[in-house]
Amino acid sequence: MSLTLAEVSAEAAECTKCELARGRTQVVFGMGDPSADLMFVGEGPGAEEDRQGLPFVGRSGKLLDRLMAEEIGLSRDQCYIANVVKCRPPDNRDPKPEEVAACRPWLERQIQLIAPTVVVTLGNFSSKLLLDTKTGITKLRGQNYPLNSPVSADTVVIPTYHPAAILRGGGLQEAQMRSDLVRVRMAISR
Ligand code: URA
Repeated sequence: MSLTLAEVSAEAAECTKCELARGRTQVVFGMGDPSADLMFVGEGPGAEEDRQGLPFVGRSGKLLDRLMAEEIGLSRDQCYIANVVKCRPPDNRDPKPEEVAACRPWLERQIQLIAPTVVVTLGNFSSKLLLDTKTGITKLRGQNYPLNSPVSADTVVIPTYHPAAILRGGGLQEAQMRSDLVRVRMAISR
């Protein structure tokens, strides 16, 4: 019998498949509704996420919550939020390719079990990974894509900016992210 998301999360909490395990306070597996229509995927936990064990609970997360409520009409409990890597990279450096490869099966299992209608990839890192491309987020965003994964063939990927990019002062980027989230609302209400 296949495991539930809670059981997979308990397994991941013990993971030591890469060197990020040594520096973490705890594994940040993900949070939200295990049967959500909508899933967000960020890059990896920061300091606050590592402390609380929850994704997107710092400044970026507060902005994500606000944009999600204003443009989609959902709270974080009504969707599912996860990251590409589940453990905090030291000094907020980018995850290394071997760390991403080691962690990827956890993300695949999350997508498979949740089977969301839409995955929103936040920023370059998760967008390039899940769309298997080297194209940057500025060019990628503005369109819907099929998910490049055998585990959830009908899922649509909608790439948008990482909320941290908006916090760095992107007025135009915020408007574009809002329009991406309007497309998310339309895609999940079909
Ligand atoms: N940035 C991310 O990509 N993920 C988090 O969980 C927090 C900040």
